[in-house]
Amino acid sequence: MKRIAIFASGSGSNFEAIARAVQGGEIKAALSLLVCDKPGAGVISRAEALGVAVFSFSPKDYPEKAAYEKEILALLQARGVAFIVLAGYMRLIGETLLTAYPNKIVNIHPSLLPLFPGKGAIERAYESGAAETGISIHYVDEGMDTGPVIAQCKVKIEAEDSLETLKQRMHQAEHLLYVQTLKALFQEA
Ligand code: GRF
Repeated sequence: MKRIAIFASGSGSNFEAIARAVQGGEIKAALSLLVCDKPGAGVISRAEALGVAVFSFSPKDYPEKAAYEKEILALLQARGVAFIVLAGYMRLIGETLLTAYPNKIVNIHPSLLPLFPGKGAIERAYESGAAETGISIHYVDEGMDTGPVIAQCKVKIEAEDSLETLKQRMHQAEHLLYVQTLKALFQEA
C-alpha cells in the first residue's frame, strides 16, 4: 500500500477530506505525515484530531529552501513515503524534493489551468465575468501550477453568486475531485 504525505499551509479542508477517505479505506494508501510550513495553521489541529503525525516548521528558521527540504526529505524517507500530495501548500517545491519524487507530487489549484494560475485564482475568475471556473489537479514541476494536468472539473459562476458562495462551492468541488483522483491514482493494480 502506497505511503503518502500531505503538505498544507492553511485551514486544511482538503487535508481532512483526503485523510478521512484514507482512514475510511476509500483511498488505498496510508497517510504517514502532514508537513506544514505554518505553525499554528488550522490544518495542524485537524491532523491532531485525526491522529495523523505532524511535522511543522518555519522556513525563516532555515538559511534557504534546500535546507528545510532536506530535513523534510529525511522524514519522508524514514517513513517510506512514496508520494506527496499538496493541499493548499503555499510554497514552490524545490529541486531537493522534485528530484527525490519525480512525477510523484500532485497539487490542487482552484481554476481551470492554464487559466488563472497563482494566488487569488477564485477572485480573478469571479472578477473576470467568466460564466464558469473550476478545479485542476496536476503533477508538480518546478513552475507554479504548471505541471501536467491529471483531472479537472468545472464549476459554474452563477449570476447570483457572491465571492463567498462561489468559494464554498469551489471547496466542495475540490474535496470531491481530490478524493476521486487520488482513489484512481492509488487503486491497487
Ligand atoms: C484550496 O483552495 C486549494 O485549491 C488551494 O489552497 C486552498 C487550500 O484550502 N491550493 P484548504 O486549506 O484545503 O481548506
